[in-house]
Formats: sequence, structure tokens, C-alpha cells
Amino acid sequence: MQSGNAARGSFGSQLGVILASAGSAVGLGNIWRFPTEVGKGGGAAFILIYLGFIFLIAMPVMISEFIIGRSARSNAIGAFQKLAPGKLWVAAGIMGVLGGFLVLSFYSVVAGWTLHYTIQSALGQLQGLQTTVNGQQTTDFAAAFNAFVSDPWQPILYIAVFLLLTHLVVARGIRHGIERYSKLMMPMLLAIIVLLVCFSLMMPGASEGIRFLLKPDLSRVTPEVILGAMGQAFFSLSVGLGCLVTYASYFNNETRLVSSAMNVCIIDTMVAVLSGFIIFPTVFSVGIAPDAGPGLVFITLPNVFLLTFGEMPVAGYIFSLLFYVLLLLAALTSSISMHEICTAFISEHFSHSRKRAAAIVTIVCLVLGSFCSLSFGPWQEVTIFGRGFFDLFDYTVTKFLMPLGGLLITVFVGWWLDRKLVEGQLTNDGSISIRAMKPLLFLIRWVAPIGILVIFLNELFPLFMMN
Ligand code: PHE
Repeated sequence: MQSGNAARGSFGSQLGVILASAGSAVGLGNIWRFPTEVGKGGGAAFILIYLGFIFLIAMPVMISEFIIGRSARSNAIGAFQKLAPGKLWVAAGIMGVLGGFLVLSFYSVVAGWTLHYTIQSALGQLQGLQTTVNGQQTTDFAAAFNAFVSDPWQPILYIAVFLLLTHLVVARGIRHGIERYSKLMMPMLLAIIVLLVCFSLMMPGASEGIRFLLKPDLSRVTPEVILGAMGQAFFSLSVGLGCLVTYASYFNNETRLVSSAMNVCIIDTMVAVLSGFIIFPTVFSVGIAPDAGPGLVFITLPNVFLLTFGEMPVAGYIFSLLFYVLLLLAALTSSISMHEICTAFISEHFSHSRKRAAAIVTIVCLVLGSFCSLSFGPWQEVTIFGRGFFDLFDYTVTKFLMPLGGLLITVFVGWWLDRKLVEGQLTNDGSISIRAMKPLLFLIRWVAPIGILVIFLNELFPLFMMN
């Protein structure tokens, strides 16, 4: 039953494969995290290091995930059980599914904030001095943001709505759910990006923002920045959790794994860089210092919209609305893939219908997501290993499960799996030729595992390695 392709569902077209995988990759990580990392990490210098990590390490992990998924045609855990029965490799799958639950839980919190800001901008409240804090009107976006995220109920309501949207797509299955909505949302997302880049480059003084983004400042490149670039590359390409193992299990035999991976990496990197071109020229044109993290998107940008468009309310309205819609679409296409890691496992392992499996995932993530949200408010003091739930989940996934998963996946494909099977997957059983087969296998066997190991050890023993 499990291997029955028709029973499991499959993507109907190559475009669907690329847009769904790129949808997973393009997310909050690209639109706000990448630009701020670039700003902190020395502009163009950071971009070059990041590109190195994308193409030398993260892409080989992605291709390895594709190989595992398509050859096993099973969920992230089932795939390892099939390819290596009775072996400990299944741990990589278990970590992935666990990671899927954790990442969807904390991601939904930020996605929920995005939903709130989208609605606020649609109602014209962002650029019209209309923010209300404790019943009083204020233009203090930092206060408004803090009041909102620390509220015990409101953010949880938005998490629930966001998870429900994700649920509705996943519950419909691969072709009618994930593929169909990726094909709808990704072109919208790309069109909005192009529009916003045009808007932003037309702002007076935009060139200063571009200079900030692109000036290669080598003095800012510290070991920490290099580590940050690697973490960013992994998170941004959604690798290490078996998300792409799951998606690849729905690829058909004609899907070209290497060129699909290349396309996804190129789209993801393009969106990340273009987001920088949206954010920095805009921020600099009104002379505000760029902030890092959530503050940039939920505090700095509303200020920018307000200041810049005080004179041009309609343009301000459109810009802010398009920006948050963009962020929301990006979050949604990514959260669908996180949800799918867990739904595919529960449905196949426990023989539940897809709808029921999806409902279980949604409910579990709503509970865990609420914990994360409460860690910004009433549960601020509740910590485990010194971290609130949000930070704990974020840390566990990005610093631990993703790199360890990536390491296991590349070693599994590079050293454990039968070489014939690997080459058969890469060449679609000899029907296409892969020019760079040798270098690619070298990346999978040596460069990616060693690179990840060095960085992973550095995360675990920061003091030992840094100094
Ligand atoms: N790649 C997504 C982003 O950039 C995040 C993600 C992580 C998606 C893990 C799926 C799995 O936002």
C-alpha cells in the first residue's frame, strides 16, 4: 500500500514540483531573515559566503533528500525504514518529523503576526496613525507590536487561523492541495516581489540602501557570521528535516532531480536577494536604522510606510498591503511543507486518512504554537534550559536537528546507499546524462558532511572552536 504511487498521490507536472519545492524554500527566512543577516554580515561579502553554502552544502543535501524520497516513495521515517530496514538511520527520519512539528509550531507564531499585520494594513490602520494600544491610539509601533505579541489570546487566534489555512491545503492532498495552491501562490508571490522592488528602487535616496546591502565589508566577516550564513542556507532551503524527502516521494520517474534542485536554489536565492532590495532602499530612504529580526518587519517597516507615505496615502496603503501579503504567501507555502512532513508520516504509519492525519498535526501544532506564543507574554518566565518555548523550538530545529539531519542524510546517500541506486536516481535510470556526476558525488560524500560537521561542532562547543 505504502509504495503504491497512485494511492500516495503524486505531483502532476515538473512545474508543480519546482513551484511546490520552491514554495517550501521561499519563506519568512528569505524575506526578513536574509536581508538582516546580509546587513549584519558585511553586505556582498556575506552574500558570497552564503552562495558558497547554498551550492556546495545545502544543495547537495537537497539532492540527497530527493534521492531518498523518490527511491523509497515514503514519508520521512518510512523512507529510512525501507531503504535501511532495522538500522539506526531511521533516527534521521524521526528527528525530521519531530523537527517538522517544532518548526511549524514556532513558525506559525510569526506567520500569525504576519496575518494580523496584513489585516491591519488592509484596514488602513498601519499608515494612518491608527494603532491602538490599551485602548489608546498611538504611532509607537514598537509598543503596539510588543502589546500585541504579549497578549495571551489574540496571537493564538491568528495562529489558529493560519494553521487552518495550512490545514485546508494539506488535507486536499498532493495534486489538488499542495501542487494546486503552490501553482497559484508562487507566481503571485514572485509578481509582488518584482512590483515591490520597482516601488522601492524609485524611492528617493534608494541608492544608499543598495550600497548598504551590496558593499562588501570584509571587516564584518567573523566566524560567527560564517556560521550564521550556513544556518541561514539550511533554513532557507528547508533541508535537513526530511521535508524534501517527503515532497520527492511524490515526484514521478521523469522528474530531473538535479535540475529541479538547481531551479529551487536559484529561485530561493533570487527571492532572498530581491527582498534585500525591497527592504533596504525603503528603510534608508527615510533615514531609519535597519533593525534585525522581527523588529525589522513589524516595527521598522510600519514606521517607514507611515513616514514615507504620509504624503501619499494611497501608495503607502498599497505598498504596505502588498508587503504583508507577500510575507503571508511566503509563510503559507513553507508551512504547508512543514505540515506535510508530519501529515504524511501519521497518515502512512498509523494508516489514518489524510484528512484525519492532517487534523492531528494541526491540533498538536496549535497547542505547541500557543506555548510558543505565550512565551512572549504570560509565560515569559517559563523556561527550559534557560529558554522560553519559542526560542527553545527555534534553537532545537535550526541549531541542532537541521544540521544533524543534513549530516546524516548526506552520509547515508554518499556512503551507505548503493551507488547504483544513487546514480540511477540522478540519471533517471540512465535516461538523462548528468555532466557533473563526479563533482556532485564528491560534494555529497565529502564537502557537505565535513562542512556541516565542522559547523555543527562549533555550535555545540562554541567557546572551544571560536577562540
Ligand atoms: N525555508 C523556509 C523559510 O525560508 C523555512 C522552512 C524550514 C520550511 C524547514 C520547511 C522546513 O522560511
